[in-house]
Amino acid sequence: MLVKLKILRFDPDNDKAPHFQNYEADVEPTDRVLDALNAVRWYQDGSLAYRSSCAHGICGSDAMRINRTNRLACKTLIRQVAPNITLEPIRGFPVKRDLIVDLTGFFEQYRNVMPYLVNEDPMPTVERFQSPEDRAKYDDTTKCILCASCTTSCPIFWANTDYIGPAAIVSAHRFIFDSRDQAGGERLDILNSREGAWRCRTIFNCTDACPRDIKVTKAIQDVKRAIMSQKL
Ligand code: SF4
Ligand code: F3S
Ligand code: FES
Repeated sequence: MLVKLKILRFDPDNDKAPHFQNYEADVEPTDRVLDALNAVRWYQDGSLAYRSSCAHGICGSDAMRINRTNRLACKTLIRQVAPNITLEPIRGFPVKRDLIVDLTGFFEQYRNVMPYLVNEDPMPTVERFQSPEDRAKYDDTTKCILCASCTTSCPIFWANTDYIGPAAIVSAHRFIFDSRDQAGGERLDILNSREGAWRCRTIFNCTDACPRDIKVTKAIQDVKRAIMSQKL
């Protein structure tokens, strides 16, 4: 089938402002939006810039606004969005070129929450045991692929890019509720700061945007509750 692609393009070195450019691509309804982008770049316009790597919803590199909604291009079927497909970069971070944004700030927010296991006890000879019940407490948030779809769909973040954002809170959640970790209190203090979890106004865009179906808003609520119980 023939689809019309309207793509927001921007080259900071040469363009004064972003502008839409139109293309057509002959693709199957069961192809992905990424296939349509590849058809354009490989056969029509090699200057079109976008990120992708795994092409299977694992690496998180091809989040973009597809018909005004954050999605992964490699997980969105043509039949879900055809025949008119508008593609724009995710919002809130500087555009490097076309559909590619600079995620430096996103990964700074991620690093700020200490997204790694902290345990000062002597290394066990076998493994650090954990019950299935304890593992279940953070199972959902282990699924994050750091695609930034949640953070860049949040109106609070659009208005204030200092807000740590749902993705970083999800990454913190994964360790705060891990029974083997010993830095939960430190992470909760970070998320209790001015630009932390309390900025969230439970708008739920993040949950709708997550390609891994993580209950993002619930994870943020878990963190808020943990902060409160730490304070009591
Ligand atoms: Fe992407 Fe979901 Fe992780 Fe947010 S929580 S970065 S939307 S995978
Ligand atoms: Fe934003 Fe999600 Fe909270 S959209 S306001 S982080 S529920
Ligand atoms: Fe890896 Fe889409 S290319 S998630």
